[in-house]
Amino acid sequence: MKFLKHIIAFITIVVVVNAEAQTTNAKMNAFVNNLLSKMTLDEKLGQLNLPGAGDITTGQASNSDIGLKIREGKVGGLFNIKSIEKIKAVQKVAIEESRLKIPLIFGMDVIHGYQTEFPIPLALSCSWDMKLIEKTARIAATEASADGICWTFSPMVDIARDPRWGRIAEGSGEDAYLGSQIAKAMVHGYQGDDLSKNNTIMACVKHYAMYGAAEAGRDYNTTDMSRSRMYNEYLPPYKAAVEAGAGSIMSSFNEVDGIPATANKFLLTDVLRDQWKFKGFVVTDYTGINEMVNHGLGDLQKVSSLALKAGVDMDMVGEGFLTTLKESLKEGKITIEQINNACRLILEAKYKLGLFDDPYKYCDEHRAATEIFTEANLKFAREAAAKSFVLLKNKDQLLPLKKNTTVALVGPLANSKENMLGTWAVAADFTKPLSLFSAMKNKVANNVSVLYAKGANISEDSAFEARVSVFGKPFDRDNRSTDILIKEALDVAEKADVIVAAMGETAEMTGESSSRSDISLPQSQKDLLKALIKTGKPIVLVLFTGRPLAIKWEQENIPAIINVWHGGTEAGNAIADVLYGDVNPSGKLSTTWPQNVGQIPIYYNHKNTGRPLEEGKWFEKFRSNYLDVSNDPLYAFGYGLSYTSFSYSDISLSKSTIKSNEKLDIKVTVTNTGNYDGAETVQLYIRDMVASITRPVKELKGFEKIFLKKGESKEVHFTLTAAGLKFYNNDLKFVFEPGTFKVFVGGSSDNTKEKSFELIK
Ligand code: BGC
Repeated sequence: MKFLKHIIAFITIVVVVNAEAQTTNAKMNAFVNNLLSKMTLDEKLGQLNLPGAGDITTGQASNSDIGLKIREGKVGGLFNIKSIEKIKAVQKVAIEESRLKIPLIFGMDVIHGYQTEFPIPLALSCSWDMKLIEKTARIAATEASADGICWTFSPMVDIARDPRWGRIAEGSGEDAYLGSQIAKAMVHGYQGDDLSKNNTIMACVKHYAMYGAAEAGRDYNTTDMSRSRMYNEYLPPYKAAVEAGAGSIMSSFNEVDGIPATANKFLLTDVLRDQWKFKGFVVTDYTGINEMVNHGLGDLQKVSSLALKAGVDMDMVGEGFLTTLKESLKEGKITIEQINNACRLILEAKYKLGLFDDPYKYCDEHRAATEIFTEANLKFAREAAAKSFVLLKNKDQLLPLKKNTTVALVGPLANSKENMLGTWAVAADFTKPLSLFSAMKNKVANNVSVLYAKGANISEDSAFEARVSVFGKPFDRDNRSTDILIKEALDVAEKADVIVAAMGETAEMTGESSSRSDISLPQSQKDLLKALIKTGKPIVLVLFTGRPLAIKWEQENIPAIINVWHGGTEAGNAIADVLYGDVNPSGKLSTTWPQNVGQIPIYYNHKNTGRPLEEGKWFEKFRSNYLDVSNDPLYAFGYGLSYTSFSYSDISLSKSTIKSNEKLDIKVTVTNTGNYDGAETVQLYIRDMVASITRPVKELKGFEKIFLKKGESKEVHFTLTAAGLKFYNNDLKFVFEPGTFKVFVGGSSDNTKEKSFELIK
């Protein structure tokens, strides 16, 4: 009876919620239909146009070129415009001077924070902490919306398995399951539970699709893959973001299967609309439409019509829609329904954001003082940064450092502020972060000295440095000879008990258009490390990077390595927290680190092949391997050390056989066996032993981050059902297939316990 009451209550709630949604939808439809009926063709095309902010300077909005276009109804939104003052001024032109007074939307690349910068996305993904990641997005949304922004070009959910690709920094790594969880968390963080609030902003999932699979890791390069790989390994995070309610999605620059994503009907209509039921709008990436001329699909008029027909709604920057669709309509190449449909989706987005009710709702000048760059936000940024660091090696427990040790802090990144922030710090103040040098000095106060010497430039090649900084701040290059620089470092090392070497990549060595074919430490830095080793002093390598690096030599020769990525505004403090043991590192890699570039692409969830290597061996003739390097990664997916250690019990399964309608309980006991309290991410993998298509040797299916005091044990449970064992078969049907499965549980993809079970019909 009680049960029945619950069901009735539940059904009532669902019915009420649905009814409310229907009323809201009906209201929105009526509003948008009415508006559409008043719009001229030019005004409709105007809504599809998303220019950059261009020449707007404070106080000049109305007279700028963009201002003129807005007045004529030729602009749907603007991006990369910063400050409430400017945003208010251009919105005023739209509301007071354009015929239909349709508000603009304002977008920006708020990627890993607004003014409070968080670690780059790849770093954040190594926290494996969904609440934390969601909260970074929530804070970013609050700060951005307090500064006039209502739309962010984030999350980037492109799966990437090639660390040569600079944009690997912007995503969540190589795994579809982890990537999907993060995609959801980010969308929820930005959009909250109500997009019409003034502190939530619309997410834009990007770059749809398969942008991370660019051949040879070269940005914007061709992508080609089987549908089976797409559906099983690359599409899930986009789908997860769509299911989480993302309001918009960005089509990518690359081609897929011979057709640029921006004109790809299969992706934009068949998959996105028909299969996933996406209700938001599609915006191109930058000049994505114009670039299809270079792809070889026709002139601007042709490619613009292809994009519209395939399912693009809004044209970023290129103005192909604005300048050519009218002609294409006249020629019968496109239909007015296609234009109406795109326009409708953009108006709906504005409606959902509440802009028709109050076009200035994100322009409250009072909010900034109490909501942007607050102490609480900075505190959280410090926590997030520390949780993203991955301890890669810690021989003889060299870390944590004692606070009374004299440290020689050396390296080109030891005294840098701006490189803390990471690749997309569009709204940040680059003077705000503390350098590691300052943060370490603050941490030990006056107890003991932290001695500093730069010791090396980022690279021995000034032309390389110039290419890296084309778009940003020039390198702070020291033009004295290498010998002098190294000598200075050796002098401070001589006086110290331990050397901390802050090395790696500057923020701009990853990110857009920052692919590298050699992902090792630049020679100048290696030379410094080699000289430092000769002192015989213990060395801690603090590695700044936006991608996995090939650091086999460093792994073999340096006793302690901690990867700190580009950790955001509070990175300096967070690194000091971890180096001195106030925080125990707990990050786990979300991408495989190769031994060398030749192994790329290397990822944990590869297939077995017909000629796998026998376990324990690293070479056998006529097997799938190399003559000169083992198949092993340098660091596996899921790997990351702690100052403490954890042991895992054997796995216990609730059953050895489950039916397709049953659940399997998987239990392990994890114990903190070391001397520090610490967090561990317990990972669950499976392998489908026999199937109608080949399946990966391991596949992440769950994880739980637990905190254990030293000596403490915890039981961790995972539940698997047949639904969780599904995959896309060769007909692209999402199915499970009965048979034998292996389950693996452990603290890294290459260090697990295992058991088997059978799935029967
Ligand atoms: C990037 C996008 C970004 C857009 C707008 C493009 O070049 O690929 O990720 O959102 O610019 O800044």
